[in-house]
Amino acid sequence: MPKLEIDGREVTVEDGLNIIQAAERLGIEVPHYCYHPGLSISGNCRMCLVEIEKMPKLQIACNTRVTEGMVVKTTSPKAKAAQAAVLEFLLINHPIDCPICDQAGECKLQDYYMDYGAYRSRFPLEEKVEKRKVVDLGPQVVLDQERCILCARCTRFLDEVTKTGELGIFSRGDHCYIDLFPGKKLDNPYSGNVVDVCPVGALTSKDFRFKARVWYLEKTESVCTLCANGCNIDVYHRRGQMYRFRPRYNPDVNQYWMCDEGRLWYKELQKESRILRPLVRGEQDFAAVSWDDALTRLAQTLTRVKEEHGANAVAGIIGAKATNEEVYLFSRLLSEQVGTELLAGLSWSPANASHDDFLIKADKNPNTRGLQAMGLLDGGASAADVLAAAAQGTVKVLLVFAVDLVPAFGPEKLDAALSNVEVVVFDTDYSGTTEYADVVLPLGTAPETDGTVTNYAGRVQRLRQAFPPPGEARPGWEVLSQCGVKFGGTDYLSSAEVFAELANKSPASAGLTYSKLGSQGIQLPEVEQPTEPAAAQT
Ligand code: SF4
Ligand code: SF4
Ligand code: FES
Repeated sequence: MPKLEIDGREVTVEDGLNIIQAAERLGIEVPHYCYHPGLSISGNCRMCLVEIEKMPKLQIACNTRVTEGMVVKTTSPKAKAAQAAVLEFLLINHPIDCPICDQAGECKLQDYYMDYGAYRSRFPLEEKVEKRKVVDLGPQVVLDQERCILCARCTRFLDEVTKTGELGIFSRGDHCYIDLFPGKKLDNPYSGNVVDVCPVGALTSKDFRFKARVWYLEKTESVCTLCANGCNIDVYHRRGQMYRFRPRYNPDVNQYWMCDEGRLWYKELQKESRILRPLVRGEQDFAAVSWDDALTRLAQTLTRVKEEHGANAVAGIIGAKATNEEVYLFSRLLSEQVGTELLAGLSWSPANASHDDFLIKADKNPNTRGLQAMGLLDGGASAADVLAAAAQGTVKVLLVFAVDLVPAFGPEKLDAALSNVEVVVFDTDYSGTTEYADVVLPLGTAPETDGTVTNYAGRVQRLRQAFPPPGEARPGWEVLSQCGVKFGGTDYLSSAEVFAELANKSPASAGLTYSKLGSQGIQLPEVEQPTEPAAAQT
């Protein structure tokens, strides 16, 4: 644990840290371009030069490990002069693109120019070396060679993380440029990460380019719900519209990265197929009704069916896309308030679902482990049992929450099972299952709700509501809480209350709250480490 001094302040840090990392502990920024904590150290940009006592020359902070008694100055006249000089050098051939550059607002050249440069340009515009602009690298990424500062973050990501090596640095001196190796395309499943690591506007996202200026966007921490890995993300949004997902650092889940499918998942969450109002099937088609009417009708139906045919005439199937809070409340409604034994979880993924040994999981559900933990996948009734009971005519009402049964069971089986059953669907979007529905209740998607999901390894992580659901859709926990109230249950004020209650049901999670989960979640103690659930499970 070396003790050192940076800018006159003492700090004790773990052995092995570099000066950039040690300075961060004191809230001191050492400007840097090529250094990225998720990649090897390359030391090529020289932006991080600092003065170290007893060393005759300035040293690069990224490649200098801290030692006992070291005295570092990041703002001495010598260090400041070097930072400004390096910046001027890096900008010599940089185009004057800021007004039309997609990186504006989150560009390290802009930021550092204001903080460490602020010189008057001495280089004639007409002498700048011109390179290729708008180079199509692959499905996700566009390159502007003129804007590149040759920090080699992108090439190191592709060499060290994906190990696909599509990009290289070619030529010499100020004619150096980034490009694809001959015959290659930047089309690996994690290619979008090169846009995140590029500190300038050289690599931009085809999807996000020219959609929004970043300073207009709000950022909310959340978790990707496209597969069981649960990569930590930031949701960028404005006025209820999402513009992009970006990975958020979590050393235990996704480090600094996310896959391209997950990155583009936000588009699927705001499609035209969203259900916007509670609907009840009429003679011809669905008719919109108020929430109060829909929930009153649901409560009356459940009560009547239970009285006339017994509790097991009511059944429920809940998907592994539901949050833990939703699973808990659905389970309480069906098992305790109605009293049926026909309650099943369903975690279904296509048999050929994409997966690899890095982040992408074949289980395309964010909360299979949550369903398991609440006993809805192993033991008790399965979704197939519920449908079999429905086909035999013993089930009169089926509640289907956050899952499309059609891909899992096929229309023939569902036709046979559901033709004489009143089906109530709680979901975000119209689906094959809503075709069978008599009542449809619109839910918020993951970025529109608070809640938790448990990833494949048993880590409980938070979803945070970035903005309210569109139309009259509501977060699932709120809808289920209101259903429960019709049966004398608690009127929960927040999903945090629901979570605190459900956490106390298990010794492993007793006392857990949203604030204890923090921004990176918690691995529950007795949950086993990675055993990925089966790809296709019905
Ligand atoms: S394209 Fe971006 S990440 Fe790659 S070397 Fe250039 S500046 Fe660095
Ligand atoms: S690996 Fe899974 S959780 Fe992570 S970004 Fe991709 S789809 Fe989302
Ligand atoms: S960040 Fe240290 S040399 Fe680039």
